[in-house]
Amino acid sequence: MRAGQPRIVRLTAEQLTASAQDLGVLLADVVEGGSSLGFLAPFDREAAADWWRGLAPAVADGRLAIWAAHDDGSRDAGHDAAHDAARVIGTVSVGFVDKPNGRHRAEILKLMVHSSARGQGLARALLATAEQAAAEAGVTLLILDTETGSPAESLYRSGGWTEAGVIPDYAADPAGALHPTSLFFKKIGGSSAARPGPARQYRSAARYR
Ligand SMILES: CC(C)(COP(=O)(O)OP(=O)(O)OC[C@H]1O[C@@H](n2cnc3c(N)ncnc32)[C@H](O)[C@@H]1OP(=O)(O)O)[C@@H](O)C(=O)NCCC(=O)NCCS
Repeated sequence: MRAGQPRIVRLTAEQLTASAQDLGVLLADVVEGGSSLGFLAPFDREAAADWWRGLAPAVADGRLAIWAAHDDGSRDAGHDAAHDAARVIGTVSVGFVDKPNGRHRAEILKLMVHSSARGQGLARALLATAEQAAAEAGVTLLILDTETGSPAESLYRSGGWTEAGVIPDYAADPAGALHPTSLFFKKIGGSSAARPGPARQYRSAARYR
């Protein structure tokens, strides 16, 4: 990202709740644009905000990490969470696996950029932030899925992700039409050993708040 570009912040559960309405504006914009992110039309801003609010418990207990990108104006001195919330133009999440044999693994989720802010490197910056935080939390394998043929595919390929395969008719777009999904993975960090249990994971995650 160039200097003066959006500031990316990892949200606490409280900040997520405070930002839910504006994250909802972002999510509704992306779904309205036809992206297959798990929702069907009609999907308005309030429904989207409710969906974000429902994630607060998972953020609070460290199972989920969510970053929000705020536009330039939120760098002003004296800004607060409510002010930041009005300027959310992108987001990405990491879902940690709590199965004992899968704690080295995590999933990139809900990477999206507002339609008015695309093509400026924000998704690449959000993805890099999430990957770095996952690596620092001890994750050595990241996975994700994305609609086959979507613009996001070239972002992942050029970012060192490997395609594992394509599943036909995996998910419906907002209009209800089924599309294939491509599965990707990326090895990150150094060790391929299993990560320690949840208590240590939670303390690690807390450093990025
Ligand atoms: C996919 C998305 C996140 C990209 O956001 P963005 O901020 O515009 O992306 P960036 O500017 O960081 O671009 C990074 C790379 O993505 C790819 N890319 C982005 N937009 C693209 C487009 N319209 N067509 C083809 N490739 C595209 C390119 O490889 C680009 O790298 P380059 O600029 O070096 O060519 C955004 O279009 C979006 O939110 N789409 C809807 C939601 C979605 O599909 N999310 C992915 C879910 S897995």
